[in-house]
Amino acid sequence: MKRGRLISFEGIDRSGKSLQAKRLADWLGEQGQPCLLTFEPGSSDIGKQLRKMLLDKELVRQPLTCALLFAADRHEHVKSRIEPALAAGKWVICDRFRDSTLAYQGGQGIDEKILEQLNDLACEGLQPDLSLLMRISPQTSLQRHGDNDYFETGDCDYMQQVAANYDRLATSHQQRFAVLDGEQPPDLITELVRKTVIERFNEIGK
Ligand code: TYD
Repeated sequence: MKRGRLISFEGIDRSGKSLQAKRLADWLGEQGQPCLLTFEPGSSDIGKQLRKMLLDKELVRQPLTCALLFAADRHEHVKSRIEPALAAGKWVICDRFRDSTLAYQGGQGIDEKILEQLNDLACEGLQPDLSLLMRISPQTSLQRHGDNDYFETGDCDYMQQVAANYDRLATSHQQRFAVLDGEQPPDLITELVRKTVIERFNEIGK
């Protein structure tokens, strides 16, 4: 059986990637392409518990602790869901994957080489065939959040750092990344996503 393809969606908070990931999975299904839509963090049984810890803002933790927990979540995800689906010939559409760790935990000051080692360990070397970066400005992320205190909490500086990390990743891995303007109307982005996938994988539509 032909191995499936892995497509990740990446972007800063509120970049609209979850909607686009779902639309792509639905569309592939309509084309008769078997597909798994999944996300990080929290898609495996253990991952659900890890997600609660990771998203609990009240819990004090070190940046490296977060990186290790995201890696643990990713390893469970790869082994229990992603690899079996790829082996069964499915498309796997993943809402966040290893680049999220490089962008976010990198933004907390952890060395990128260490994060790459953690990612390689967690994924057993698995890389997406295509990564779609939904690019929005940190200001748009703030507006979509609708909370004026957001900028004052220091989160905006962090989001700027995360956005810069994503831009750098997309530039240094141009073969794998496609950058889409997430400020465009959602229906237009959906069209661009489909066009990109058709161009990258010419088996669709044949
Ligand atoms: P989530 O509620 O799933 O939001 P989103 O729709 O933005 O994906 O929150 C996930 C949060 O976890 C998000 O702020 C990004 C962060 N994150 C990391 O910091 N590192 C990671 O490796 C991953 C997968 C997510």
